[in-house]
Parts: sequence; structure tokens; C-alpha cells
Amino acid sequence: MLRVVVMVSGGGTNLQAIIDGVENGTITNTEIVGVISNNKNAYALERAEKHGIPGECISPKEFDSRAAFNETLLARVNHYQPDLIVLAGFLVVIPAEMIQSYPNRIINIHPSLIPSFCGTGYYGLKVHEAALARGVKVVGATVHFVDEGTDTGPIILQKAVSVEQGDTPEVLQRRVMEQAEWVIMPRAIDLIANGKVTVENGKTSIKYSE
Ligand code: GAR
Repeated sequence: MLRVVVMVSGGGTNLQAIIDGVENGTITNTEIVGVISNNKNAYALERAEKHGIPGECISPKEFDSRAAFNETLLARVNHYQPDLIVLAGFLVVIPAEMIQSYPNRIINIHPSLIPSFCGTGYYGLKVHEAALARGVKVVGATVHFVDEGTDTGPIILQKAVSVEQGDTPEVLQRRVMEQAEWVIMPRAIDLIANGKVTVENGKTSIKYSE
């Protein structure tokens, strides 16, 4: 069983897609062992509780320094002994020590087709605002391994979504979630849980057998 810790900041719809995937069998060999939020009001924590998954808040606001926050965050993650850490809308920069402790064992969902609309400052609705401002016709989402850069790690899965006439950032965000994020995040976890993703020279290979 792949032991997964999911890290969240907000609504937790990607967390919900993972919970549903584990419960309905589209994600196999996987157990969600904990949910960590940096925001005590995140609805994601309620989603975890409803499904009997241990959840906790570790907020930078409750620490005197970033270093103290980072140390506790890593200690709490380590406590769950995860095989995989999933950043599902976690809007805090991951400490370098965590990335070094879990090489190619941290994945992130980003709401664009990387390398478009990614990197520092591109998160949440801002990504969709930028895509509409640029007038692109195709957007999408990416699941990637986390390295020390921002949205620079090896890409695991991507899925494209059409922009439609009259889209607002909110409408586009919802379509990207429904058509891409909630599909590729569970799929990526299932592939990893079944040993089908390998990383070499900064790129992934996926074994699609069966
Ligand atoms: C998702 O759209 C996710 O792709 C994005 O935050 C949202 C979280 O929604 N993540 C980023 O922008 C990371 N750079 P959720 O809490 O409903 O899953």
C-alpha cells in the first residue's frame, strides 16, 4: 500500500477526487494516511474528517520564524511515514529539507499546461486570469514531481481543456478542475502506486500496460 499524505490550503476538491478515487477503486494500492493544511479554516480539513482521515493544521502564523515552521512541518509529515506527498492546492513553498528528504516522492497539481502560466506568482485563479488575458485557446492542468524550483520538476501527466467564448476566470478554473485536475491527479497517484512511473534525467516514463 502506498502511504499518501495530502497537503492542502483551501477547498480541497482535488483532495476529494483522491478520496473518491481510493474509495471507488480507480486509485489502487493506496491509503491516505493524513491531511495537512496551512489554513485552519480550509474546507479540505472537513472533507478529511468526514472520511475518517487524520487531519491537522500547521500554520506559519503560529511560529516565530519560517525555520521553526519548516522544521515542524517536516516533522509532522515524517510522522505519517509517507511513501508519497501530494500537494493538492498547497500554496506554501515547500522547505528545501522536505524536497531533499523525499526526492521524486512529492507531486503537485498545477492548473496550467506547464511551462505556460507557471512559476512564482502563478497559482489558483491568477493562472486562469493570465490565460484569458493572453487569449490562449487551450489551457489545462499538469501533475509533476516537485524539485527545488517552482513548477519545474518532471512532468507526469497533462490534460488539455478548451477555452470557450465568454469564459470568466472562475468558469475556466472550474472547467479545468472538472475536465483535467480531478482526472489526472487520481490517475497519477494510481500509476505511482503501481510502480508505473520512473524518472530519469529530469523526465518521467510511464508504463501503460494491461
Ligand atoms: C487547484 O486548482 C490547484 O490546481 C491549484 O489550487 C487549486 C486548489 O483547489 N494549485 C495551484 O495553483 C498550485 N500552484 P482545491 O483546494 O479545490 O483542490
